[in-house]
Amino acid sequence: MGKKVTVVGAGFYGSTTAQRLAEYDIFETVVLTDIIEGKPQGIALDLGQSRAIEGFETKIVGVSTGPNGEGYEAIADSDVVVITAGLPRKPGMSRMDLLGVNAKIVRQVSQNIAKYAPDAVIIVVSNPLDEMTALTQIATGFPKQRVIGQAGVLDTARFTTFVADALGVPVRSVKTMTLGSHGETMVPVPSQCTVDGKPLAELMSAEKIDELVTRTRNGGAEIVGLLKTGSAYYAPSAAAARMAKAVAEDAGEVMPVCTWVSGEYGCSGVYLGVQAEIGAEGVRRVVETPLTAAESAALREAAEAVRSKQADVFDL
Ligand code: APR
Repeated sequence: MGKKVTVVGAGFYGSTTAQRLAEYDIFETVVLTDIIEGKPQGIALDLGQSRAIEGFETKIVGVSTGPNGEGYEAIADSDVVVITAGLPRKPGMSRMDLLGVNAKIVRQVSQNIAKYAPDAVIIVVSNPLDEMTALTQIATGFPKQRVIGQAGVLDTARFTTFVADALGVPVRSVKTMTLGSHGETMVPVPSQCTVDGKPLAELMSAEKIDELVTRTRNGGAEIVGLLKTGSAYYAPSAAAARMAKAVAEDAGEVMPVCTWVSGEYGCSGVYLGVQAEIGAEGVRRVVETPLTAAESAALREAAEAVRSKQADVFDL
């Protein structure tokens, strides 16, 4: 049977994710859902009509859903479900300002996914990311490795772009790493960053690296400030779609993701941004890399910062 992926939420993030997934041409079906009547159907029709031009065959289905599971039959047998439902930030808001409102949306979406696509791997992108990922696992009751959050692929892509632009080198020459949370306690890991294999610290001053790290940490807010009416979605959707592809292809690719840690880096019992090997069952294993003492300490601090918020998230 061909692969099936569902994208919940047909806003900017969801519709661009659906487009990227469809254009990979590796899925038999992409299902796009939203609570708004007509929006997912319209986007699905439009996207489907691009097939003859772009040359892909993926079938795209748009479905409206209700709070009590109405419409959710369409997601049955999905191999992967990407949750993008929820409000985006407005200028001046932090991701945490979305906690209450998005928790209600994500909890209800998760309960319906558990009922209608009980074997899916879920990729969460709704913000605040670390909390919404933890909530999705609690609300679905899925094994922890089957619920993954998207943050690190995007954060590293931003960091990589800033480094490449600053040095005037192709983005493909640059490897960066960010761990921790998708927010204040994001932990960029300069010791693991290289340009054509050379340590970043040999090519850039510590001050310049710090400046790019700060810009990375505020990468989302910078775009929200410019757009004024929503948040970023081109790079975010590229990140989520790549993760869904790694699951669908059982790729074993190592990516920075938000996953459950059990002792890695001295952190346990919390959803945290770390590198992990991604396959058909979600996270196969967390991949640890050597960190400097300062980077390790920052990662443990990030774990503590998200732990308390994740603990209360189901009751919001
Ligand atoms: N089920 C399905 N879709 C829903 C639900 C629900 N219960 N509740 C809201 N939605 C839909 C909205 O109708 C809207 O179409 O989610 C969509 C959100 O789209 P946008 O407002 O365009 O937001 P977007 O930029 O796509 O961001 C979505 O991703 O990056 C995060 O912070 C961002 O939490 C936000 C999410």
